[in-house]
Amino acid sequence: MKKMAAGIIGGTHGMGRWLAGLLREQGFAVRVAGRETKTTAADLADRCDVVVVAVPIAATADVIREVGPKVKKGRLLMDLTSLKAEPVALMLAHSEADVVGCHPLFGPSVNEPAGHPIVLCRGRGDDGHVLMKDVFGKAGYPVLETTPEAHDKMMSIIQALNHFNTIALGMAVAEAGIPFSELQPFSTPMFKTKMEMVQKVFTETPGLYADILAGNPRTKKIMASYARVVRKIRALMDAGDAAGLKKMMEDTAKTLF
Ligand SMILES: NC(=O)c1ccc[n+]([C@@H]2O[C@H](COP(=O)([O-])OP(=O)(O)OC[C@H]3O[C@@H](n4cnc5c(N)ncnc54)[C@H](OP(=O)(O)O)[C@@H]3O)[C@@H](O)[C@H]2O)c1
Repeated sequence: MKKMAAGIIGGTHGMGRWLAGLLREQGFAVRVAGRETKTTAADLADRCDVVVVAVPIAATADVIREVGPKVKKGRLLMDLTSLKAEPVALMLAHSEADVVGCHPLFGPSVNEPAGHPIVLCRGRGDDGHVLMKDVFGKAGYPVLETTPEAHDKMMSIIQALNHFNTIALGMAVAEAGIPFSELQPFSTPMFKTKMEMVQKVFTETPGLYADILAGNPRTKKIMASYARVVRKIRALMDAGDAAGLKKMMEDTAKTLF
């Protein structure tokens, strides 16, 4: 039987390379394109049954606009972007192909499917959607199905708020003016865990985290809420009101958990 052809734009690194490996294991004939490869994004869009856009968030809209019209009806156009509403809307607007929005909720170094869900948002058509659900399901990844808008609402907390908090922590630690090498020997387990997160966000892919924050339509609302919370905590601490802070945390825990 002829292998299905998959073309991954942005398949030379990161999540695109991760998906290329997975699709090869599942019997697809995979070709990849980056900015330096001889094979171009347009070549893949012209020829492949499944075309995946896996480029950085800031480049995604332009790549979809360029390649979308070349992916023919009956084929599949999918993206891996960490945000879903805008890319899915663009894929629907710029292509007649089946459309699936996909967001693996983990980074490219993950090889163990258990406990690592993949979000799928059905854009257009059944065949492409069933195909990808099958590919990820067979590989053992839990598949979460939702709408692009519901996905982005969840990510405004799980990614935008979370990374904003990590960025704020890292910058505040730096402002304290004590070199990390001096803090390290005194570190508690909780501080170590948090600083590992700060180091990952600040040094591995800062552009990705900046794009995740800037690209989520709910980021402004989340940041305003964060600022309100900080003001409340500050007012209690200005008054030296430890009992008030304890009560606020206890009340919040009742709502949260
Ligand atoms: N990293 C994560 O943890 C993670 C998790 C889930 C989803 N995502 C999503 O996955 C997508 C890719 O992120 P990533 O972290 O994998 O990025 P990455 O490691 O920087 O890889 C980006 C890929 O896109 C290529 N590329 C960059 N600009 C391009 C352009 N204009 N045209 C064609 N190819 C281009 C790069 O190839 P060359 O450098 O060879 O040109 C590379 O192969 C993003 O939408 C991100 O939101 C990332």
